[in-house]
Amino acid sequence: MGNEAANWAYAEDFLVEDRVILSARDAADELGCVPVLPGAGQALQVLARALDARHVVEIGTGAGVSTTYLLRGMNPAGVITTIDREAEHHKAARRTLADAGFAPERARMITGRALEVLPRLTDGGYDLVLIDARKVEYPMYLEHALRLLRPGGMVAIDNALWHGRVPDPAQRDEETTAVRMTLKAIREDESLTTVLLTAGDGLCVAMTAR
Ligand SMILES: C[S@@+](CC[C@H](N)C(=O)[O-])C[C@H]1O[C@@H](n2cnc3c(N)ncnc32)[C@H](O)[C@@H]1O
Repeated sequence: MGNEAANWAYAEDFLVEDRVILSARDAADELGCVPVLPGAGQALQVLARALDARHVVEIGTGAGVSTTYLLRGMNPAGVITTIDREAEHHKAARRTLADAGFAPERARMITGRALEVLPRLTDGGYDLVLIDARKVEYPMYLEHALRLLRPGGMVAIDNALWHGRVPDPAQRDEETTAVRMTLKAIREDESLTTVLLTAGDGLCVAMTAR
């Protein structure tokens, strides 16, 4: 044990975020929502690029930080379906995506509660699902994500370490327990190929069977 904190900080600062992402972070700050940290955003961009993703679902748009990272990795013809219950957040995300140079048709923004919207999305129709909305609903988001993914698709769960609370057995609040239950369900699903990355606030990535 020794340099973990310094290693983590070095990795988070490894790539410099551009003006678009930094101004989306300012917008998120004004709205009081917390975007993915740089390491998680960059991992999402690489995953979307590796999959050459054309169809992505994002649960929790915020001001569009993760949306921008994902779109930057996706196939240039790809469309992201992004869900948020706050119309104000979608408005800010639309400004972010325009600022990043993406045509409006690249993002289908659905304003509503995730658990009401997700059942309307097509089974097996998506390459990648990002989970980043209400922590207590994570186990249910996971069930939907596994239904929505095509064979060989990926689910990514942000805040998988939830500010260090998930690994600490003394933390038993509702949100931490829900994130922990989600990770347990993933770990116990032998059909998934899984990694828990320490990037950002923890990003758990699981790939469905071929
Ligand atoms: C952590 S922020 C998302 C940050 C975003 N992924 C990013 O990196 O910029 C969580 C978002 O989920 C939304 N949210 C919270 N509960 C929700 C729910 N039940 N259904 C849909 N969206 C929800 C909030 O309005 C907020 O914008």
